[in-house]
Amino acid sequence: MDTPETKCPITAPAEEDQAEKSCEVKMSFPKAAPPKVSTAQNPAPTPLSGKASYRIDKLLAASCCGSRKDIKKLCRDGRVRLGNQTIGNAATKVSAEEAKELLLDGQPLEIQLTLLIMMNKRPSVLTALVDRREATAADDLPEELLERGLVPVGRLDKDTSGLLLWTNDGTLNHRLCSPRHLISKVYRLSYSGLPLGEEDVLKCAAGLPLDDGPTLPAALLLPLSAEEKLNQDQPGRYFEELIGSTFAPGALKAAEAEKLRTVLLESCRQVAAERRSLADDEALLVICEGRFHQVKRMLAALGREVTSLTRIREGSLSLDPRLDSGEWRALDEKEKASLYLEASLEVPEL
Ligand code: URA
Repeated sequence: MDTPETKCPITAPAEEDQAEKSCEVKMSFPKAAPPKVSTAQNPAPTPLSGKASYRIDKLLAASCCGSRKDIKKLCRDGRVRLGNQTIGNAATKVSAEEAKELLLDGQPLEIQLTLLIMMNKRPSVLTALVDRREATAADDLPEELLERGLVPVGRLDKDTSGLLLWTNDGTLNHRLCSPRHLISKVYRLSYSGLPLGEEDVLKCAAGLPLDDGPTLPAALLLPLSAEEKLNQDQPGRYFEELIGSTFAPGALKAAEAEKLRTVLLESCRQVAAERRSLADDEALLVICEGRFHQVKRMLAALGREVTSLTRIREGSLSLDPRLDSGEWRALDEKEKASLYLEASLEVPEL
């Protein structure tokens, strides 16, 4: 099993070159004699500006500059500067704007407090940080990221593979998982049993009765029929004519029901190419909840058994096809922004 490169932990591929350079700076602490820092350069931990809210030690820790103790020493040794000002006290607070100007040994730091990572989860590992007996998805991530509070967004079963997000932003994590926010998840599945048909599509759109209550309406996409293969406008029509006809939002308020319809329709459009590639014993299922074993239980309610399961999308994000099993990468700024937007949250400054 390949373990992804971890020397520069939280960098989207497009930014790799530049980040690798700054990582070299971050990870190596040159042994040059430290300048003497006077007490004047080692002031009380007062903010440098009115909007200051980030402690230097937290920012430097987020830039892989070592432990809190290492960082305290870097400050004491006069190696941390903001413009011309030496920051002698690691507890000094700065604003987000100022944080972007921080220098270590004269080199700019790349600071990212909020971590957001997509992983292609291996099918044989638990979605957990640690387990005494079994391998976990966290084993495929570098320790320094886990130390910064990275946790998985929801859970995939041990035998499920595919898109697993990780973040240290608890509010975002909660919103991505909560059914209230109607963030879609798209699964590609193989199943055993009789071929799924139109009536199963209609049942999913109406919501399936599970032992913990009916599901929200979901979109089940089956391989294209010969007739559909000729139809250019297929995803929209499929939803409107088939799924839309029994769409039953249950207890949802009108606005939520409308949002759910829109989210399902949009997801159907986004996976149109995937749908074209489905084998006869495969299907796509779009759900906006994340209950325990939900897809497997939905298929069981339709009298079928899931034989393999992969998550291919979450919200606006598709699993990056360049990620092999067990690999991960940081989300780029655009991906981050659209996830925060979907979760009705502001993108964090750092
Ligand atoms: N539904 C399941 O049954 N399993 C998963 O891992 C995810 C969704």
